Amino acid sequence: MSQYAVWMAMRSMTADPSVKDQKLKPGTLSRIFTYAKPYTSHIIFFLVTVVIDAILIVSTPLLLRKLIDDGVIPKNGALITELAILVGALAIADAVFNIAGRWFSVRVGEGLIFDLRSQVFAHVQRQSVAFFTRTQTGALISRLNSDVMGAQQAFTSTLSGVVSNVISLILVVGTMLFLSWQITLISLVLLPLFIYPTKWVGRKIQSLTRESFDLNAKMSSTMNERFNVSGAMLVSLYGKPEVESKTFSTRARKVADIGIQMAMLNRLFFISLTSVAAVATAFAYGFGGHLALNGSISVGTLLAITALLARLYGPLTGLSNVRVDIMTSLVSFERIFEVLDLAPMVQERSNAITLKSGSAEIEVRDVRFAYPKANEISLASLESVAKPELVQSGEILKGISFTAKAGTLTAVVGPSGAGKTTLSALLPRLYDVTGGEILINGRDIRDFTLQSLRDQIGVVAQDPHLFHESIAENLRYAKSDATDEELIEACKAAQIWNLINSLPNGLDTMVGERGHRLSGGEKQRLAIARMLLKAPAIVILDEATAHLDSENEELVQEALKIALVGRTSLVIAHRLSTVMDADQILVMVEGEIVERGKHQELMSNSGLYSELFSRQDLTAN
Ligand SMILES: Nc1ncnc2c1ncn2[C@@H]1O[C@H](COP(=O)(O)OP(=O)(O)OP(=O)(O)O)[C@@H](O)[C@H]1O
Ligand SMILES: [Mg+2]
Repeated sequence: MSQYAVWMAMRSMTADPSVKDQKLKPGTLSRIFTYAKPYTSHIIFFLVTVVIDAILIVSTPLLLRKLIDDGVIPKNGALITELAILVGALAIADAVFNIAGRWFSVRVGEGLIFDLRSQVFAHVQRQSVAFFTRTQTGALISRLNSDVMGAQQAFTSTLSGVVSNVISLILVVGTMLFLSWQITLISLVLLPLFIYPTKWVGRKIQSLTRESFDLNAKMSSTMNERFNVSGAMLVSLYGKPEVESKTFSTRARKVADIGIQMAMLNRLFFISLTSVAAVATAFAYGFGGHLALNGSISVGTLLAITALLARLYGPLTGLSNVRVDIMTSLVSFERIFEVLDLAPMVQERSNAITLKSGSAEIEVRDVRFAYPKANEISLASLESVAKPELVQSGEILKGISFTAKAGTLTAVVGPSGAGKTTLSALLPRLYDVTGGEILINGRDIRDFTLQSLRDQIGVVAQDPHLFHESIAENLRYAKSDATDEELIEACKAAQIWNLINSLPNGLDTMVGERGHRLSGGEKQRLAIARMLLKAPAIVILDEATAHLDSENEELVQEALKIALVGRTSLVIAHRLSTVMDADQILVMVEGEIVERGKHQELMSNSGLYSELFSRQDLTAN
């Protein structure tokens, strides 16, 4: 029995048998074929090599039979040489076809992985923010990775496994029956002895595999959590390193124990497989030897049939789990399709128009908003991994109306959880309003193309995100063709140039976890520089809640003064200096605007605003 056959058998055992009971959606198969279509010629060539391979496999024992019966026994030297050369040549031909087959199958397999991956990436990227807040990204990524692999197996391993196993089995059993039906039947008597233990070991290995996946995932998530900067800091400050090490080694120990069990089971399986085959061969020799003695079969036939016997058990094992194999692949496809079929919540209208650059007036009309429910955006196949939240957020914004004239500064203040950040997310359509409308220059923002709308809006978040790339690359994310001079100019305006200039690598300094760590205020200023490069008509700024030191505060203020000039800006304000300069201040409480006006007006009202102001904290509860 070949190593490959054993491997194929082992592989199919690790598949999850529960999948074979799953129901496939109608249309899945035909949809899969559309993916196979570009590879039709490759698949056909591949199948041809598989068939040729199978034919070569049975022809060798037949040639050896002839070599013994017509060459060795009648002492025909010339024929012996001839046949030996032919057998050798066939072996080489077989090797060539094997490699050719692999070439075709790997091309189909990798091509398919490539197609699916690119498509899924492009699609997931288009999902709205809601999708990412509700989906465990890690779970999604690993699921997609393993499903893409699983789907690919349908086309290579499974396809080749099934086709070549069926063809080999038919040819081998057919040839054996043709040579001697008696020996064939005797050899097959041992079959149940072989199938049942195989199934048992298979189930055992498969449950261990699942457990070890689980444990491995836990182990790596422990490492992931503890070995990043913030996690490591928390461990140093609060954790007990010995406890952490102990937890980790308990998990690692379990992984090791399972590894030992699996290795032993694998070996047991392999040994029982080969020994059953060996016993069957002994049976065949014993019984066939007697048949040869009394002349019912020739010696060559005996040799050929025992050689064929060795080729019988591999395909049989491979096919014993074929249903599970195929279903695993199909289910993988289905899960990928599920992701591809998930329509982004925020959609562009088919007749969307471009929002022109230039000044922008914003009008918010009776806007209501509730965060989407989990089932509106989550994926059924991920439910076992991610636990979707079942309660809805309730109405977060309850009829907000205001107008921000072009070039003016609107400050939003109010207690934590009032819905300020939520309101700011609606403008660039990270979410769509559930009631009312938002207009820019008199047109509903849903009439604009997403690209042109977002091009006109620059957002500086509370805790801005920077990619783990150089400062220059981070800045160019806003304007890919910006020259170094433009970058420097933006950095100067954002009051961050002095810092960057003082770094040994300047603009090429790497930022983020593996590079230079920027302070909160520095990060915000860098984000302001990024926003300046984008030169949007509208600016949304979520001021950092953490109190900056006075030097940083001053620099950020300075940067903002320049950044906001001539732009329509919506600032979620925590700083007194920002609100003093505002053209209008909106005081938000529980999703409603309870007070509005300029600083002086609001102060004289002696309402919530003046109370917050006197406490020197615009977001206090
Ligand atoms: N993705 C989400 N899904 C469901 N509810 C959410 C989501 N994001 C925020 N919320 C809820 O919406 C409400 C308003 O949150 P929001 O972030 O807008 O408050 P905020 O006014 O910006 O507060 P802060 O001053 O603390 O930043 C909160 O009750 C919050 O729990
Ligand atoms: Mg907020």
